[in-house]
Amino acid sequence: MDKPKLTIDEMAVFCKRKGFVYPSAEIYGGIAGFYDFGHLGVELKNNIKKEWWKTFVQQRDDVVGIDGSIITNPMIWKASGHVAGFTDVLVDCQKCNSRFRADTLIEDKLKIPTAGMTMEGLSAEIKEHKIKCPKCSGNLGDVKKFNLMFTTSIGPVQGSAAYLRPETAQLIFADFRLVQENARLKLPFGIAQIGKAFRNEISPREFLFRMREFEQMEIEYFVHPEKQDECPFIEDVIDYELNVLSAEMQKNKKNMEKLHAYWLASMHKWFVELGASPEHFRIRQHVKDELSHYALDTWDLEYEFPFGWKELQGLSNRTDFDLKQHMEHSKTDLSLFDEETKKKIIPHVICEPSQGVERAFLVFMFDAYNYDKSRENVVLKLHPKLSPIKIGVFPLVSNKADVVKKARGVYDELKQHWACTFDLSGSIGRRYARADETGIYATVTIDFDTLEDDSVTIRSRDTMEQIRVKISELKDVLSKFMEGEKLGKMGKGVG
Ligand code: GLY
Repeated sequence: MDKPKLTIDEMAVFCKRKGFVYPSAEIYGGIAGFYDFGHLGVELKNNIKKEWWKTFVQQRDDVVGIDGSIITNPMIWKASGHVAGFTDVLVDCQKCNSRFRADTLIEDKLKIPTAGMTMEGLSAEIKEHKIKCPKCSGNLGDVKKFNLMFTTSIGPVQGSAAYLRPETAQLIFADFRLVQENARLKLPFGIAQIGKAFRNEISPREFLFRMREFEQMEIEYFVHPEKQDECPFIEDVIDYELNVLSAEMQKNKKNMEKLHAYWLASMHKWFVELGASPEHFRIRQHVKDELSHYALDTWDLEYEFPFGWKELQGLSNRTDFDLKQHMEHSKTDLSLFDEETKKKIIPHVICEPSQGVERAFLVFMFDAYNYDKSRENVVLKLHPKLSPIKIGVFPLVSNKADVVKKARGVYDELKQHWACTFDLSGSIGRRYARADETGIYATVTIDFDTLEDDSVTIRSRDTMEQIRVKISELKDVLSKFMEGEKLGKMGKGVG
């Protein structure tokens, strides 16, 4: 089994060819930073979101979800600090007026990290190393700030500017009191949200990695301000190991709060349990100048993409910054009454796991992608919970009405339980290859013997193992197979 490393561009080509992801509005030349998900991509994306919601909301007693609006009262973004501080560093070409993100331009040209560099520092690097415009080789100006929020207007009234939300988090803070009261939440507790966010990136790049429209899966985890070092669940992850960027960082880091460590481990575990390779992850603490305006401390869960180690998920300690800001700007009391001390308290967000759905999508695609030399095709080894289509049903031949009819009956039954496909075009080998390439976890073949003995052949995508089972047992066997039981144990081997 060969597993060559795909580049991000090759992954984009594969995703387009197989119906996972398309450049948005390609018939008009596309539009930078926007992508559409095809018939398989939408299923994979929905499965990722479903698994995340199940693990971090439905299976927990201490987390509930919301679904906030994308456009909201613009006061939210003033209070949150996004109007003033949600910026990236931009540099203009003085000749052709093209605009570039200064930090990534320097990283690309000089192959040095820029995390924590000030605007002056970035300007100095450009001058010292005589970095020119990548488009026309013109001189570049000074580095300046650029606000990443998309603006829009509300209704027909002039001057009623609003923003497309740049993070889902703020809706959680704005709804905090209502959610806490109605869900009768007691500290520590979390409020989660999955939804679209928009950032007017200066240089969208690397396919789904940096987009202008994307989806977030976020949790704000609130704790009592005086109990920030308590974590009721630390035993669940106490022996869990994660790679830390460097010994130097390990030595210098201040102690991570237990809840922060707990959430980092839990998020890593979620990826690994859904089939991602543990060795492709590490954690990295933000240096001081790299922290967002609201963060006291941030740890990134990083993934080794083909273009380097990059942020997969940011986990920030946002303190009581957001609740306090909204209390001040809205003149609304968002504090909670502490029964123990009989005092009002403002909870702290000790940890905010913030994950882009599309980055998770890339991780699962990269770790699932295998080129199998002996089969001469790609085998997309997605976890069965993530596979866009779980089962393919194939009549062995397409020109025998009774075989096709029998296969349709099996398909009609199975699709009540799983995402299935029915395929009768081409040789059976070609159909297996097509199924492997799109991650179909098992295929069920109906042949002439089926008409006699009511048995079918199940084939495993990953091992190509085949067994023969009765149609009456098919659903049960497929359920167990998808839960991890070995195929060979559940029926008579074939071939
Ligand atoms: N809420 C944190 C982020 O969007 O990065």
